[in-house]
Amino acid sequence: MLQIQENISLKNFNTFGIEVSARYYVEISREDELAELFLDPQWLGMKRLVLGGGSNMLFKNDFDGLVIRVNIRGIEQRLQNNDVFVEAGAGEVWNDLVNYCVDRGYAGIENLSLIPGSVGASPVQNIGAYGVELKDVFKSCRAFEIATGQFKTFDKAECGFAYRESVFKGALKEQYIIVSVKLHLSLLPHFNLKYGAIEQELLNRNISSPTLKDVSKVVSYIRVSKLPDPSTIGNAGSFFKNPIISRKQFEALLSNFPEVVNYPAGDEVKLAAGWLIEQCGWKGKTVGNTGTWKNQALVLVNHGGATGEEVYSLSSQIIDSVYSKFGVLLEREVNVIG
Ligand code: EPU
Repeated sequence: MLQIQENISLKNFNTFGIEVSARYYVEISREDELAELFLDPQWLGMKRLVLGGGSNMLFKNDFDGLVIRVNIRGIEQRLQNNDVFVEAGAGEVWNDLVNYCVDRGYAGIENLSLIPGSVGASPVQNIGAYGVELKDVFKSCRAFEIATGQFKTFDKAECGFAYRESVFKGALKEQYIIVSVKLHLSLLPHFNLKYGAIEQELLNRNISSPTLKDVSKVVSYIRVSKLPDPSTIGNAGSFFKNPIISRKQFEALLSNFPEVVNYPAGDEVKLAAGWLIEQCGWKGKTVGNTGTWKNQALVLVNHGGATGEEVYSLSSQIIDSVYSKFGVLLEREVNVIG
């Protein structure tokens, strides 16, 4: 029997640690419980929010609706020559899945070590780090369609993946609940070590032919050194996306700011939002109970007791100052609720 709870604090269910509550809250641990839940028409008509690890959300207010926490567990794999297909329940913790794969020699997600959040949220966001995105290893996902009560399997093309984007954030927003994700991994690693400090850190450790475990450890080490640990300092990782601008706009920017940190992005150019924010003097700054992280200006933090409104207002100030200095409009990466 499903337990619907009322007036539940969401403080421990959002990594920003914002104190808000949900009018109704339900935890789903089996696929068939979704059909059971929506047999009651009151939930179909109500405002809903699907929560995984709550690692990419900012609550501005109490949530006056039903919060559905997907806690479906389980990891299965199928080996076919050197290919490995790993299917994990949406409620598995993403980094537990990474460790599971790294321990068994399944290559492909080692660069995505230590990303907070759940497996079910990984395609929504097309999570990425250190030159790898989920879409690079994604095979398919299974999702419950709320309106029909049917399950559908989405292949990679149907997910419409782009940089931190998918159909689940776009055209199909709030229509499906992801219950499992299948990845296509390999027993033969193709290391992607070019991004950021990975190569340098391997060198520092005298590692010339790294194993999957080495890469996973190094990525975790780099993340820990740059990013605040949500269990002690509330945050949701990068608060903004790295903006992508036209080559023409980039050339104009470059003439005023020759040191602007940038990466090629097809015909366009991606800028390091952290650099833009730092140049505006925001890095490590505290404003009331909130601020930006001392080692990574792209990360907004809750120093304790911050409200969602406070964090949101800081993010608006940052957007304004980056726009007036560089003419570049930052877009929030986190989902703002309320
Ligand atoms: N930089 C600064 N000042 C800062 C921060 C960054 O000058 O305060 C410059 C530096 O030159 C640095 C460059 O920006 O070399 C890039 O910084 P970093 O390597 O930390 O990566 P990022 O572009 O800021 C992205 C992802 C992260 C991911 C890292 C590593 C986005 C929005 N963020 O950050 O993802 O971990 O690359 O791959 O794409 C997340 O999405 O929540 C997240 C943490």
